[in-house]
Amino acid sequence: MIELRNIWFSYIGNNYVIRNVSVSFDRDVIAIMGPNGSGKTTLLKIASCIYRPVKGKVIVDGVDYWSLSEQEKVKYRRRIVYVHEKPILLKGKVADNIGYGLRIRGYSRVEVEEKVIKIAKELNILHLIDKKANELSTGEKQLVALARALILNPNYLFLDEPLANLHLAVRRQVVEVLKKVRDEGKTTIVIATHDPLLALTMASKVIILDRGRIVQTGKPQNILNKYII
Ligand SMILES: Nc1ncnc2c1ncn2[C@@H]1O[C@H](COP(=O)(O)OP(=O)(O)OP(=O)(O)O)[C@@H](O)[C@H]1O
Ligand SMILES: [Mg+2]
Repeated sequence: MIELRNIWFSYIGNNYVIRNVSVSFDRDVIAIMGPNGSGKTTLLKIASCIYRPVKGKVIVDGVDYWSLSEQEKVKYRRRIVYVHEKPILLKGKVADNIGYGLRIRGYSRVEVEEKVIKIAKELNILHLIDKKANELSTGEKQLVALARALILNPNYLFLDEPLANLHLAVRRQVVEVLKKVRDEGKTTIVIATHDPLLALTMASKVIILDRGRIVQTGKPQNILNKYII
């Protein structure tokens, strides 16, 4: 479980963009929704231990993350993956990008290759793996970033607008892959999204943010009808 306790965050001075947020992420799929600028991305980055809150605690599997030594932080951070809305890929081939996390975790070349092919097949991007990462389209990059995240089997997967640039058929495919991960039951998935259908199909809980505060929490079907257009 990742638990945020009374989190405050500001980028500049005391202009707080996350205001006293307490929430916990434990199993299943949770969708974070709310207006542009309400703090979804910021909250995801705090929960992923990328940003340190100004006030409050981030508890990862029972441990106060920001009180850990640098060495211990690495251990906990490896359980968590955050996928940026506009992913930045490494230079080089797509296959190297997808396998990067496994390589730094000490997997052999053969193991990495096998796993890269498996996840690339699942996401239907096998035809891309020999391409240069910087030659991909925006949506292709998003799929590669997702593959790079999923290959690690993280305990916590934070996805920022994962379907934003994807074609309808590809969306469906990504949703199927994410549902499979969800149903395996080992990964807590938190998705920031403007897409009520994604929340309705995948999430067991929706959290609505507004100006840095949680204003509503509940089952998707109970709170999303008014957002369906
Ligand atoms: N790097 C930054 N420096 C200063 N302010 C920032 C920075 N990033 C975000 N903000 C501000 O923090 C607030 C929350 O931004 P955030 O990106 O978390 O919102 P969001 O809910 O993800 O929005 P969107 O739906 O547009 O993605 C906004 O007021 C934004 O202007
Ligand atoms: Mg955002």
